[in-house]
Amino acid sequence: MSVVQDSPVLDPYDYGFQDDPYPVYAWLRANEPLHHNPVLDLWALTLHADIAEALRTEGTYSNSYGVAIERSAWGPEAHKVMSILGMDPPRQKRLRSLVSRGFTPRRVHDLLPRIQELTDRYLGECLEMGSFDWIADFAGRLPMDVISEMMGVPEEDRAEVRRQADVVVHREDGVYDVPPAGAEASLWLVGYYLDMVAERRRKPTDDLTSALIEAEIDGERLTDDDVIAFLFLMVVAGNETTTKLLGHAAFHLTRHPDQHDLVFGGAGDTDLVAPWVEETLRYDTSSQLLARYLLRDVELHGRVAPQGAKLLLCLGSANRDEAVFGRPDEYDITRDADELARILSFGGGRHFCLGANLARLEARVALTALVERAGSIEVDHEACRRVHSVNVRGFAVAPMTVVPR
Ligand code: HEM
Repeated sequence: MSVVQDSPVLDPYDYGFQDDPYPVYAWLRANEPLHHNPVLDLWALTLHADIAEALRTEGTYSNSYGVAIERSAWGPEAHKVMSILGMDPPRQKRLRSLVSRGFTPRRVHDLLPRIQELTDRYLGECLEMGSFDWIADFAGRLPMDVISEMMGVPEEDRAEVRRQADVVVHREDGVYDVPPAGAEASLWLVGYYLDMVAERRRKPTDDLTSALIEAEIDGERLTDDDVIAFLFLMVVAGNETTTKLLGHAAFHLTRHPDQHDLVFGGAGDTDLVAPWVEETLRYDTSSQLLARYLLRDVELHGRVAPQGAKLLLCLGSANRDEAVFGRPDEYDITRDADELARILSFGGGRHFCLGANLARLEARVALTALVERAGSIEVDHEACRRVHSVNVRGFAVAPMTVVPR
């Protein structure tokens, strides 16, 4: 953590902060809940109550500059690649209700057999190996293939789409803006989706892409640019976040042998999978920081963040707030369900994660299959490697060994 006058400064680019942001959050919650980093001119809220309020408040905390602070991502053009995530009402509300029609609970539920099939295939390969990388061999594959399935990317193209999507989100250590390879891969994906949209306009199918093209409210339909931006948002918002959730689930459970035994000890009893997923979302969420552009001054805790400021909502801190969660720094899958219902990992209010049901379904299917097929799992914690990223928190590498049932 960076230190100015003995007080921690929240610096999302700092490796120390990325490795363990929680002590900085705890200090800020106790001492400076509306924080300012003067070097980056970056403001931050860390209390659960303030963040929950900001997510619900209209007309102050704007998404119109996007949610990522990287130089090339921040600004009024953000909606071009972030779609509704980079917009405010009323446009966000209208577009969100259009895309929601292609994203109904039934459409998500219909994916279940395919999620199961993909899980069985990839997990089968892992079990055959015995020792493998949980990220490269499983958690990094499932979410993108599920998104491709939703969008209607044909089976034979999926490996290449997944490869390009990986390049889009990959960052080498110390590189904080979009590298040329990432920009190229983005262009490749945009071109690929453009062809897919054109094809669907000629010949509609029953996938999400066709549903988006056909969705209509008060006579308004989505343009090609709207559809592409939304498909792109799905890759960015729904891919890495879910991979990182699966990575954290395995990592944290195996760091607590008593809890590992609770989950894996029975004869494949999977009741604890859902609370395992929820506690992982609380304890170490993959989407830690959401940026907002202030449309007016915000006065809180005796200081003012000015209109035009860049302000972070620290979701990872809200989930550790002692005012809401008992023993917040303990990982406990038997935690009270009422407490877990208050996690802010999927945001809240008008931008509440559209993929929350899907992410939970994927995680539950994947981890249920793991519990059913493995008698125990072991993760080599020393060999795990975190990604250094401003936006997502999670592992790039997590070596795992599985003893089959
Ligand atoms: C563990 C996995 C996930 C986490 C932690 C997560 C987290 C979030 C968060 C915090 C937001 C709110 C952003 C804001 O308020 O500015 C959000 C929005 C969104 N997420 Fe997720 N997400 C996950 C998985 C997914 C998946 C699987 C999809 C779709 C395939 C998805 C699609 C979206 C979309 C479309 C939005 C934008 C909603 C809007 O702006 O109205 N997410 N997500």
